[in-house]
Amino acid sequence: MSDKEAAQVKVWDVPVRVFHWALVAGFVAAYLSAEMHKMGLHVWVGYTLVALLLFRVVWGFTGNQYARFKSFIFTPQETLAYVRAIRSGHAKHYYGHNPAGALMVFALLALLLAIFGSGLVTLAVIDFEGPLLFLANEVSDETAYLFRDAHDWMVNIALILIPLHLLGVVSGSLQHKENLVRAMVTGMKRKVPTEG
Ligand code: HEM
Ligand code: HEM
Repeated sequence: MSDKEAAQVKVWDVPVRVFHWALVAGFVAAYLSAEMHKMGLHVWVGYTLVALLLFRVVWGFTGNQYARFKSFIFTPQETLAYVRAIRSGHAKHYYGHNPAGALMVFALLALLLAIFGSGLVTLAVIDFEGPLLFLANEVSDETAYLFRDAHDWMVNIALILIPLHLLGVVSGSLQHKENLVRAMVTGMKRKVPTEG
């Protein structure tokens, strides 16, 4: 092993990295296809996204140390301490998601789950298609359109959270003088002496 390799820590495993960048591409494709009313394409991109997210949920229990949800569940005290320390410029370094980032990751994953769920319900109760078709006779027209509106609205909330996510990535990179975007590409982070 070269000195350079020895000074690096493998943080993001291949499945997490593939998940992340496929999610980014899928989100853009889903958004653009809906805006352009290419609904056939939208639904196929949607199915791919559902599969990706389900895989990530399983990987959250079976992946490497940093991929596991357990590794980035923090107490409110830890999260507050982290956020307060940001102002002093001495926030604790984490190889995996920091407490503020982790909060955003869980918010994004939960929101995506809700967007995809409402998309699948909409597909069943308005277009009479897809794996949830059995719901079609259970739901009134009013409720059906409620699901469609919820799908649309939650996408708008995602469009607010995503820039905040990017802001968090930039500020975390500056705070700890490391390139978090590159780490999500290569999987590697520089070894930090104060952390094991
Ligand atoms: C991040 C992923 C997604 C984004 C950004 C997204 C975005 C949107 C948007 C903006 C619309 C509204 C289009 C309009 O009427 O103006 C829409 C509609 C729709 N979406 Fe999604 N969607 C996503 C995932 C899904 C998934 C996973 C499914 C199901 C497989 C799905 C199924 C549908 C359906 C069926 C409609 C049409 C509703 C209608 O008939 O008017 N979407 N989506
Ligand atoms: C070009 C745009 C984007 C960049 C540069 C970016 C960058 C990153 C980085 C660097 C991380 C790791 C954060 C850390 O070190 O703690 C991350 C995690 C994450 N990002 Fe993004 N992101 C982008 C767009 C998105 C979008 C559009 C979504 C959702 C639709 C998203 C959802 C997530 C999720 C769920 C994680 C957690 C990954 C995991 O643990 O599986 N990102 N992102």
